[in-house]
Amino acid sequence: MELNEKDLAADLPEEETARQYHYIEKARKLVQAMGEAAGRPMTFYVETFGCQMNARDSEKLRGILLAMGYVQGETEKADFVVYNTCTVRENANKRVYGRLGKLKRLKKENPHMRIALCGCMTQEPQVVERLEKSYRFVDLIFGTHNIFRFAQLVCQMLEADDQVVEVWEGTDQIVEDLPAQRKYPFRSGVNIMFGCDNFCSYCIVPYVRGRERSRSPEAIIEEIRRLVDDGVVEVMLLGQNVNSYGKTLAQSVSFAQLLARIEKIPGLRRIRFMTSHPKDLSDELIAVMASSDKICRHLHLPVQSGSTRILEKMHRRYTKESYLSLTEKIKAAIPDIALTTDIIVGFPGETEEDFQHTLDVVRQVRYSSAFTFQYSKRSGTPAAAMADQVPADVVQDRFDRLLETVQAIARQECARWEGTTGQVLVEQVDRQDDRLLTGRLGNNLLVHFPGDLSLIGRIVDVHLTACRGFYYMGEMI
Ligand code: 5AD
Ligand code: SF4
Repeated sequence: MELNEKDLAADLPEEETARQYHYIEKARKLVQAMGEAAGRPMTFYVETFGCQMNARDSEKLRGILLAMGYVQGETEKADFVVYNTCTVRENANKRVYGRLGKLKRLKKENPHMRIALCGCMTQEPQVVERLEKSYRFVDLIFGTHNIFRFAQLVCQMLEADDQVVEVWEGTDQIVEDLPAQRKYPFRSGVNIMFGCDNFCSYCIVPYVRGRERSRSPEAIIEEIRRLVDDGVVEVMLLGQNVNSYGKTLAQSVSFAQLLARIEKIPGLRRIRFMTSHPKDLSDELIAVMASSDKICRHLHLPVQSGSTRILEKMHRRYTKESYLSLTEKIKAAIPDIALTTDIIVGFPGETEEDFQHTLDVVRQVRYSSAFTFQYSKRSGTPAAAMADQVPADVVQDRFDRLLETVQAIARQECARWEGTTGQVLVEQVDRQDDRLLTGRLGNNLLVHFPGDLSLIGRIVDVHLTACRGFYYMGEMI
């Protein structure tokens, strides 16, 4: 052991959060010294690929980097660039490799520059192998399970001459209370659970995000209370499958019960959550939503396919009929609900008849919007080994037809609210016209309307004057 390691070990706290604060402090000194040597502050840039879980993780990375004394930069021309990656589809990986090539050139121009890669991609052993072999200029590689050790890993990276790699296969640890920097002061994501146990046959998430683990209701409520004290009015509760929240806790708590407790937090105005798995969506949850003043009238309920035969091969554990009766039940209980979904076309063995069932579900449910994906083969998942992979041209043709149907219906659904008044959380000055503000209705539709800066972060009543395809123009009342 080196002398400085011994010194550090002597006063190294045992509790994990305290340990990480200790490393933040250590990194601060290193970053300060680097800044003095360079004659300017050290900058960072964190880019997120993928879902809301990753976006929240990036907020945590940014919070830690700011606490270390790094200054937030606007572009990749920074002293420390972090890519928080996604691997849900092959294209996501390809994009990251392409972007890394560009970073290599930037690094040649800046001797201070460091590069880190984390997130779901780095949980795949073949990705790490490729990075170790052909991307030596990446200074730090870590995974989703040890992201809470970021401060420690940054210290290691700043002191190392070589690539630092630390990827865990899993963890049962949940480390609370590390810093985070929010994108908006008035809104925040809040993790309520990590991992996924569903093992849909096409999906790599259970392999890269590990087994399902729920945070305790007390820790979640405490975090939201603190966020509200800090100006947050809207929270997005995050988990791969929020409907199975609480199953892993010693004292079992349902997601509906958690929501009912969060509803009582004074000062909190809006509650959102994602993602819901149709197989676990309970009547209790529908009842809690229907009677709530704070839970937004929006439910993201991925269907993936409308064909019962394909759903079975996907290991989704519901049928076309049970999905349709669930959405009917939700609409009956909450008539103003906006339903959105994820759909995959071209799953192995999908026939035209199967695809017609998907179109039929889209027409019956009438989604306000849908994320549509072409099936992407993820090695290691059961679907990757299935016979009958669908030819690319057939997938493309189905994808185009699906998108057309989805968009036509989404336009009609959006137009439903024309002439009514809605509550809008004001987000920012309109990007195209600075006389306008942009905000979001509870059902997630965007509204642009005249107003001044001081309204940002407030919830205001807006008359929805004109529907423009997928958004509204409005007037504040
Ligand atoms: N191919 C295409 N889409 C996928 N998704 C997950 N795995 C795959 C895959 N292998 C989609 C699902 C999921 C969303 C986040 O990504 O629709 O709900
Ligand atoms: Fe992508 Fe899934 Fe990871 Fe989110 S959890 S970043 S969607 S692979």
